[in-house]
Amino acid sequence: MKKRILIIGACGQIGTELVTRLRELYEPHKVIASDIREGDEAMMESGPFEILDATDYDAIEDIVIRHEITEVYLMAAMLSATAERFPMKGWELNMNSLFNVLNLAKEKKIDKIFWPSSIAVFGPSTPKNNTPQRTIMEPSTVYGISKQTGERWCEYYFKQYGVDVRSIRYPGLISYKTLPGGGTTDYAVDIYHKALKHGKYISFLNAETTLPMMFMDDAINATIGIMEAPSEKVKIRSSYNLAAMSFNPEGITASIQKYLPDFEIDYEPDFRQAIADSWPQSIDDSEAREDWGWHHQFTLAEMTKIMIENLSQNF
Ligand code: SER
Repeated sequence: MKKRILIIGACGQIGTELVTRLRELYEPHKVIASDIREGDEAMMESGPFEILDATDYDAIEDIVIRHEITEVYLMAAMLSATAERFPMKGWELNMNSLFNVLNLAKEKKIDKIFWPSSIAVFGPSTPKNNTPQRTIMEPSTVYGISKQTGERWCEYYFKQYGVDVRSIRYPGLISYKTLPGGGTTDYAVDIYHKALKHGKYISFLNAETTLPMMFMDDAINATIGIMEAPSEKVKIRSSYNLAAMSFNPEGITASIQKYLPDFEIDYEPDFRQAIADSWPQSIDDSEAREDWGWHHQFTLAEMTKIMIENLSQNF
């Protein structure tokens, strides 16, 4: 098979697990991982790795040509909380990296792109419950503005230049293998680590802040699922709503207390509260389910069981 895949941002929370899964599915030497820094041993030893700055067009082009890449998964990004601190850096990384891969596809140097969008494309004026695929979108964060703009450009490149770009709006993602960095939904990962280590967690979101969330295995299935779907089934070329579960800090605490009854939580909301308050509480993802057969597997209870079982091995 001719398929050769490049993952940009391979050492991040999603990239790490995406590389593992893709190397299981395809021959490992055809799955090239890349990041601005080296990965862990498992990443470096399981297949080819390249140091790559996602904002450097020539460097990406060089790797694409050398490895005869056909598909790119662009997972490098600055997330919501960090981008509020470094607005111009966030904008430049998120937009320039996207233009780099879109332009490589426009010039027919690659065939297919995966680019992640986010629930951050929605804003305070968006309906919060069962948020539709098409609705008011006035994002109020730098990250959200970059993802909303990116979605418009993806659709534009598809319509004007026939670029086969595919995208989903990830909710908050929870995993035990690699920590997330700089996001507003990161509390839902950190809480498991702190529960096991200290028996206590101080949440930067208040008890009732309900957000859409998903276990990483579901997110990886969705990502590979949309990339493997026949082109005509991918009808939306901006980005698809995607959902699995919704919970708030109180709800995840209760699910952890089933395993660790003495676990305690306190609330000290910071600037991330306003970001979370601007996002939906639940998402209508029926078009992804109808168009390319998306379905989720993991509930909050199942996810908590897996998180506790795996993370407790570290303590
Ligand atoms: N999880 C991301 C964040 O919190 C949203 O896409 O920034």
